[in-house]
Amino acid sequence: KLHAPVIAIDGPTASGKGTVAQQVAQRLGFHYLDSGALYRLLALASLRRQLAVQDVAALTLLARELHIVFRDGYVKLDGVKVSNEIRAEEIGNRASEIALHAPIRLALLARQRALRTLPGLVADGRDMGTVVFPDATLKVFLTASVEARAQRRYKQLIEKGFPASIEILSQDLAKRDARDIQRVSAPLRPAEDAKILDTSNLSVEQVVGKILEWFVALSVPVSHAHASA
Ligand code: CDP
Ligand code: CDP
Repeated sequence: KLHAPVIAIDGPTASGKGTVAQQVAQRLGFHYLDSGALYRLLALASLRRQLAVQDVAALTLLARELHIVFRDGYVKLDGVKVSNEIRAEEIGNRASEIALHAPIRLALLARQRALRTLPGLVADGRDMGTVVFPDATLKVFLTASVEARAQRRYKQLIEKGFPASIEILSQDLAKRDARDIQRVSAPLRPAEDAKILDTSNLSVEQVVGKILEWFVALSVPVSHAHASA
């Protein structure tokens, strides 16, 4: 089976994965998968249906049946745009509680892999390089200090009109990191063959530039893949 190239970008919350992945995808004309949005959509849907985060059976069913639309720039749940709603920290934290469970993760696996189509895919999340696309063309793991990440998330939330406090954000980030790192199922960690980049003191442009540089150095025969797939 011939595979389209994939760039997997993983890292902790607010390390810049989403922003960077979208720009890399745009530059290469690749598709983009925001896997965190899937978990966030599930978190929002479960909240609306009043399912408990411990109800793994019901959540797994919901993950399989969830009617979602993924488009450039927006996502829909049950036919309604929720791109902004899913960005609330409450939803991110709930997503990370739901993401603990293997059956739920499994229910989302095929949906993610189905997006690997030509000319290629840039995917960001926690387990893109380790579980979802273990054979990714390029694996990148972004890190940044808790301080830098809390600052970034603070700015984003304020701009979106959400209330935020740096202090609470730092605590929540640390808690979410710990949960994502310590979980048994697909824990947050760099793949063995991932390139690790600390973005604390880098601009978005610098990070995007570095990843494109790495990708080009691999000289993936994109046009050939196109012709023969
Ligand atoms: O997806 P993830 O949670 O890792 O991060 P994000 O949603 O892309 O948010 C990162 C924020 O930090 C964005 O507002 C970026 O503009 C900013 N930023 C960055 O992503 N990378 C840098 N090197 C510097 C700033
Ligand atoms: O934007 P941010 O980095 O804060 O979070 P996100 O990427 O939208 O993901 C929200 C939560 O979903 C994370 O804290 C993870 O627990 C979970 N997640 C996951 O388990 N696996 C992924 N591939 C993506 C997200």
